[in-house]
Amino acid sequence: MIYFEKENQTFYLESKNVSYVFCVQNLGFLNHLYYGKRIPREDLSFSVFTKDRGHGANLPNSGRRESLDIYHNECPTFGRSDYRESMLAFCDHLGVRVVDLKYVGHEIINQKPKLKGMPSLRGGQTLIVKLKDERMGAIVALHYTVYENLPVITRHIEVFNESENAFSLDRAFSFCIDYPDKEWETITLPGAHLRERVMDRNKLIHGTFTADSNRGVSSSQMNPFLALVRKDTNENQGDAYGFNLVYSGNFAFKAHVGQNEEVRVVGGLNDYDFSWEVKPNEKFVAPEVVMVYSDEGFGGMSRAFHDLYRDYLINDRFVKKTRPIVINNWEATYFDFDTEKLCKIIDSVAGTGIDTFVLDDGWFGVRNHDRSGLGDWFVNLNKLPQGLTPIIRHAHKNGLKFGLWFEPEMVNGDSDLYRAHPDWVIHADGIEACVGRDQYVLDLTRKEVCDYIVNSVSKILKENEIDYVKWDMNRPLTENYSAWLGKNSKEFSHRYVLGLYDICERIVNGFPNVFFEGCASGGCRFDPAMLYYFPQIWTSDDSDAYMRTFIQYGTSLCYPVSAQSCHVSVCPNHQCGRVTPFQTRADIAHLGATGYELDTSKLEQNELGEIKKQVEQYKAMEDLVLHGDLYRLNNPLQENLFAEMLVSKDKTRAILTVMRPLCKPNGERSKVYLKGLDENTVYNVAELDLTKTGATLMRVGLNIGFPMGDFQTKTFTITKVS
Ligand code: DGJ
Repeated sequence: MIYFEKENQTFYLESKNVSYVFCVQNLGFLNHLYYGKRIPREDLSFSVFTKDRGHGANLPNSGRRESLDIYHNECPTFGRSDYRESMLAFCDHLGVRVVDLKYVGHEIINQKPKLKGMPSLRGGQTLIVKLKDERMGAIVALHYTVYENLPVITRHIEVFNESENAFSLDRAFSFCIDYPDKEWETITLPGAHLRERVMDRNKLIHGTFTADSNRGVSSSQMNPFLALVRKDTNENQGDAYGFNLVYSGNFAFKAHVGQNEEVRVVGGLNDYDFSWEVKPNEKFVAPEVVMVYSDEGFGGMSRAFHDLYRDYLINDRFVKKTRPIVINNWEATYFDFDTEKLCKIIDSVAGTGIDTFVLDDGWFGVRNHDRSGLGDWFVNLNKLPQGLTPIIRHAHKNGLKFGLWFEPEMVNGDSDLYRAHPDWVIHADGIEACVGRDQYVLDLTRKEVCDYIVNSVSKILKENEIDYVKWDMNRPLTENYSAWLGKNSKEFSHRYVLGLYDICERIVNGFPNVFFEGCASGGCRFDPAMLYYFPQIWTSDDSDAYMRTFIQYGTSLCYPVSAQSCHVSVCPNHQCGRVTPFQTRADIAHLGATGYELDTSKLEQNELGEIKKQVEQYKAMEDLVLHGDLYRLNNPLQENLFAEMLVSKDKTRAILTVMRPLCKPNGERSKVYLKGLDENTVYNVAELDLTKTGATLMRVGLNIGFPMGDFQTKTFTITKVS
């Protein structure tokens, strides 16, 4: 709930176990007072520390104590004695960059307004506090949403121009938090294509730590996630503040340690390559940031993110529903397929429980390799002479749904679309545009380009019985410019993302019976905003079960396992040549929205029988994948062990999955301590024929006893007895 105490002009934001407190200071700015574990609603003015710092500056008419450089500030700006990272940077038509934002009012509303043009979370109670700079005519609305049942607060800002002249925003971050000490470590999710979101931990030192992307996509190089944790915070206990931006383009988080020996964290749209002209009577809306606080370490933080995204972000239409179990032809055939080959794959999986056939890249245009065809969203009749219909019918006849791959944002130079509209690609005249995978990015800042994409993709979806779409995106942006923007070209990157949301909105909402999966060369655009449209995202092109333990572990820090699309693929693995047991690949893929990606038409009967068994295993645990709580039992980056549990909300059922990567005779721990069970409940561990209380299973642990060989997994089914 949100409270405003008139007497001390203080706002109290209370989510489950969390308090967030700030007040209107006498001089009109917003003074941050506290963010963390729930405390009683008391006057916190005693905690404010002011000082005339040597070689500093103070606000005018304030004696010598009112330096903004000392205060904890809800909305710091440039040029008024606060030298730390600012949240906003303005520039007016005269070139003046200084603003003096003062409180002018607030409202508390129960219906959270949607963010214009951008995905945002539903529900909660929202506080909107308005600050105004009289001289520039800028009104900044700070939005805060609290969730009573979760330790979550979301924030974003909106900036309105009520003057007669335009001004520009050169930085428009979504939040700022000042922490009163500097003893924090950062957790981030850096990586690369095929190695996405591998958790990293670093101590903060004086200066500014930045986690960002400037690639035009939220990126695999750095996920839009940052956590601040204490030195002793671990999976199970300790303070963890997680920040995750609901945005799919350039972002930045900055954690600054300065002269006060304190930390300031700010974040939002990356201000590198950003400036936005706000015209008179116009409003700029910055993306929403999700802030989770937990004193139960990374584990508590992750479970809060997972619940939040499942209950308040991901499309209701999909989120709680069982997911398609797909057979995807990409690694089976790449571009080399015809109707017969595809039908053979469909035939081979009939009866295994796999329920959806997904036709990946190569079905359209003149697309026999990745150098041509993108943008031409009509069937490649040379390859599939009778179109998609016989394949769709064949799938349906065998009880399978049909899915189709698109890469709507892209075009190859060798395509009809490019030949007709070479100017539709992102480019600046006179500079030859860079190519990535031999393709260009379409200029989504232009309405006619967005309309073409929506119409051409919709036509295929209307004319064929398609149940599932895989939406891919295989290169970052370059030459960020569109001629119509002229000197406002620093608006380009954000406008691209707004264009993307526009086409997603129109296509996803236009086809309510189609299930959508996101993808960007695997997990190169895995963020909450994409999850708003696509309930699951292809986690990584790296489908090697061992690499997946790190990728899925890191991804689970803030994204639910049901959002991670995970496939069983062939060995030797196509990305790294590793050979892992078939069952291992399935056990790891079962910790997500599972599926298959190999040429099943070449498998022996007994291997198809294995798949049938694996799908049954998955079906038996599917409700835990969709709705359960995730408990990570260890950190696979630090040990020769991967162990995770999914526990039902009512703690009556759980599944434990463990992998020992390398077999090292006589040298390994084989005990794991369960988590998330009810101490007093008696459980049966089916595979061990063992019946013990939750307390015993969690404190005494289980002996795993792996068989010989590398990359062995085991799973255990834990069920309440009494
Ligand atoms: C990249 C994706 O991650 C793959 O799964 C596959 O769809 C290819 N693109 C197709 O080009």
